[in-house]
Amino acid sequence: MAKILCTGIATLDIINEVRCYPDEDDEIRILSQKKCRGGNATNTAVVLSQLGHQCTWAGTLVNETETQTILSDLAHHQINYDHCHFLEQGKIPTSYITLSQETGSRTISHYRDLPEYSFETFKKINLQYFDWFHFEGRNIEETQKMMLWSRQQCPDTPISLEVEKPRTLITSLFQTANVILFSRQYALSQGFNSRKNFCQELGLKYPDKTIICAWGNSGAGASSKQQYFEQCALNITPVDTLAAGDVFNAGIIDQQLKQNNLKKCLKFANQLAGKKCAIEGISSLNIN
Ligand code: FRU
Repeated sequence: MAKILCTGIATLDIINEVRCYPDEDDEIRILSQKKCRGGNATNTAVVLSQLGHQCTWAGTLVNETETQTILSDLAHHQINYDHCHFLEQGKIPTSYITLSQETGSRTISHYRDLPEYSFETFKKINLQYFDWFHFEGRNIEETQKMMLWSRQQCPDTPISLEVEKPRTLITSLFQTANVILFSRQYALSQGFNSRKNFCQELGLKYPDKTIICAWGNSGAGASSKQQYFEQCALNITPVDTLAAGDVFNAGIIDQQLKQNNLKKCLKFANQLAGKKCAIEGISSLNIN
């Protein structure tokens, strides 16, 4: 069991399940609606907690009624949120998600009107307590300060960085991470159409880092010390792919903490993400 600090967002997810994804200007019936906590960093923490780790989340929230849904879920998964910054103004980041029964795809429309977590708040955390730091690749300027500070305060504690979307200056975060968890969306945005090319090229550019790239229903690739590995995905019928990437990332962090080799890390994370896609939500992955 390790103590893990996850820095990033918590959201309110409003999930509308539909039979199939609508066309523009269609009018359709929602089959079921669910409101729950979401957000990449907290999703990853929820899975790490199910894997037996002790997680702390650092991020911002606002004092409003819906916030309770988020806090209750974090508490349910024993995730510490003592370092959460509660703001008086703003709106809880909300995702309106269309989940298609036909394909398991999740289309996300995200509304955000809340300041991000600041370095000033992060600096108050006693970092010595933790065995691993995980950051979401967002809020770049502040995140860079947080990562550099973590490295300075705890030079031997590994840092993972999730790179999901291309954002201005996001590459400035790469140098401070040990493990970089890329999405297919990011690799495609950089002009790569294969995980192998992406991992190998990034591996050459950042030879001291572990490069991971999830590739949806084709599995994932990884490179470290000039060696490339890949793993195909589980053969399942997708029911709900929301947060599959966050689950995959948790699987990698868990396996890296257990010092398993990269091949094993990929296999485990892939299986976990595959299992997730075959069920609804991430609250009961039934890991053991
Ligand atoms: C899934 C997710 C959702 C959230 C959205 C934020 O990866 O974290 O829970 O609403 O992405 O981008």
